[in-house]
Amino acid sequence: MRFSDCHNFQDFRRLAQKRLPGPLFNYIDGAADDEVTYRRNTEAFERCDLVPNVLRGVQDIDLSVIVMGQKLALPVYCSPTALQRLFHHTGEHAVAAAASQFGTMFGVSSLGTVSLAELRKAYSTPQCYQFYVHKDHGLNSAMLQSARQAGVDVMMLTVDTITGGNRERDLRTGFSIPMRLTAASMLQFALKPKWAIDYFSHERFRMPQLEEHIGIEDGAISISRYFTEMLDQSMDWNYVAGMVKDWGGQFCLKGVMSVDDARRAADIGCTGIVLSNHGGRQLDGSRSSFDQLAEIVDAVGDRIDVMMDGGVQRGTHVLKALSLGAKAVGLGRYYLFPLAAAGQPGVERALMLMREELTRGMKLMGCNSINQLTRSNLRFR
Ligand code: LAC
Repeated sequence: MRFSDCHNFQDFRRLAQKRLPGPLFNYIDGAADDEVTYRRNTEAFERCDLVPNVLRGVQDIDLSVIVMGQKLALPVYCSPTALQRLFHHTGEHAVAAAASQFGTMFGVSSLGTVSLAELRKAYSTPQCYQFYVHKDHGLNSAMLQSARQAGVDVMMLTVDTITGGNRERDLRTGFSIPMRLTAASMLQFALKPKWAIDYFSHERFRMPQLEEHIGIEDGAISISRYFTEMLDQSMDWNYVAGMVKDWGGQFCLKGVMSVDDARRAADIGCTGIVLSNHGGRQLDGSRSSFDQLAEIVDAVGDRIDVMMDGGVQRGTHVLKALSLGAKAVGLGRYYLFPLAAAGQPGVERALMLMREELTRGMKLMGCNSINQLTRSNLRFR
């Protein structure tokens, strides 16, 4: 399996599996409990069919959308994901550079390995910041302030990680940050010497978003300790309403699934929501975003921007979500496997394939622009 043989999500997934130490591959690929929701996220797209129109003159296709006040050249964006430098030594830089090249937005995580400000300076494409609420509310204000200073365009507060999901693959592999070299994991890393040389011969692993504010000795923190000890489980609508006001700009909640919550998000002044089950990594058995999408768009689509993520592997998956009324669709593993497989060229190839699939799909659907995708183009079985 070579890079030039990668034509889709599964190809990149296989190449990433070949290149990454087992614990890292399984951290990306894994999900919670029995991984039912993870599998359903993609299956959900297969339960409905596209109904194309023909003879519409489709020589020019415009894939651009305006979402959260940002003009994107593609209706997909790179969702914020943690720890990117573990997967490839170029980490967030590779993803941001690829997103810029394709004119779309990229996300930076609180658990990111390059700083918001550094990325803002290097890339002018829209940037969103995935934020966690800490028990120390002074710390939250300081982090908001840093994000404002860095020039973050969209605040994306994750609301589905109030406690960590049960990721049994990570328990089995002993995955932790920093990676602990147990006898078993040492073997896994020794099996992938190319990854190990790249990782250890480049800049030291850091989590600058947190380091700036929290004393992390030697850049070391365990994710589960971080979630259980530092994050605020009492976070509620009142508190978030204050944050939305304080931020004063584009603010969305990622991980909203119910109609009630979608309405409340609009009521407190959010400008968007991302329907998400965190790639099936949190509450196993929860509904797929795609299955929940129409109901949410009907309830709040005229008040706020509704986005979704989860399970997207194909351009046609995106077209289906847009037909139901999503304003844009987030990609996670879709670009993480290519990042792990080949760094920036990998992410670029994945976005290039997505753009080609979207363009081809639009032509075959008889649509020139994204707003021509409507529910009349879709039938559920
Ligand atoms: C995860 C968190 C860090 O899904 O977002 O692993």
